[in-house]
Amino acid sequence: MTPAKHHRPDDANHLANDEVPSGYQKVETPQGVKIVREGPVSFVRRELAMSPNRQKLWEEHQGTTVLPVARSFADTSVAPESYLDVASVWGQDGPLIVDVGVGHGESTFAGAQAHPEANFLAVEVYRPGLAKLLDRVVTEDVINVRMVEANAPEVLDHMLPAASAQEVWVFFSDPWQKNRYHKRRLIQPKFLDRVARVLVDGGLLRLATDWSHYAAHMRDVAEAHVEFENLYPGRLAGNESPLTAARVQGTDDDNPMPEAQALDTLGGWAPRFDTRPVTSFEAKAQRAGRYIFDLTYRRVDR
Ligand SMILES: C[S@@+](CC[C@H](N)C(=O)[O-])C[C@H]1O[C@@H](n2cnc3c(N)ncnc32)[C@H](O)[C@@H]1O
Repeated sequence: MTPAKHHRPDDANHLANDEVPSGYQKVETPQGVKIVREGPVSFVRRELAMSPNRQKLWEEHQGTTVLPVARSFADTSVAPESYLDVASVWGQDGPLIVDVGVGHGESTFAGAQAHPEANFLAVEVYRPGLAKLLDRVVTEDVINVRMVEANAPEVLDHMLPAASAQEVWVFFSDPWQKNRYHKRRLIQPKFLDRVARVLVDGGLLRLATDWSHYAAHMRDVAEAHVEFENLYPGRLAGNESPLTAARVQGTDDDNPMPEAQALDTLGGWAPRFDTRPVTSFEAKAQRAGRYIFDLTYRRVDR
């Protein structure tokens, strides 16, 4: 990767507007000029503390399995001049699978074990989650995983070349249930633009969620996007649809919908993806009686 300039936040005063990376803006505050992200982020930064052993492991694998990241203005940012040389970083010429928001990395691990010929990139802002994945890949000698601790939209924009990924996975992304937080949801038209740029023609976007409102939102956004087509159009529509069932039962908010309004005539739900394991998030959803929604979209040819 090309090293990048590192700006300290207190450099902001000296920056011309055209030096502020895309996705960031200059704002005047009582403490002076600051550079902040333009939109809300889809995550809340959590505790970084790890056991001494995990911390040691994390440090030992910096620059190898844990990819180096040049930052711009925030801990989880990616400098715009970053670049990931996929062939040299993995040392094998296989398809690139990008797993976004991996949590503890169960889906990355399962995929990488099942497909040693593919190159897996785990993207997460939660360092202890990545460290847990690192522990597993080191212990089990899984050599096709790399990880990056950074904000996924910036990883897609700045680290990944166009048409470099065979698949992008976003499993159980935070649902941001309250209306006023919907803008923080990761799956938005702009995010799909980013995914469309990095996917090869015919590459796949795989989504899963347990929140029916978010599932319907994901489907709306993806169906409306000209660069994506549903791999399973119409599958499980009407009374077969998990969305119909979730609405009738009011699984998200204990607020059942009348049957006439609940019917999901569109369908388009994918079968459960082969290697996607039941993670702690999914297990919790199952215990709470929520349905699981899978969606798979194909990037149309350029
Ligand atoms: C609900 S968890 C799901 C974890 C995992 N995919 C699973 O299926 O169990 C969502 C994860 O996405 C991460 N996340 C949210 N927004 C992100 C972003 N913009 N960039 C990187 N990770 C993000 C969160 O830190 C969290 O660990």
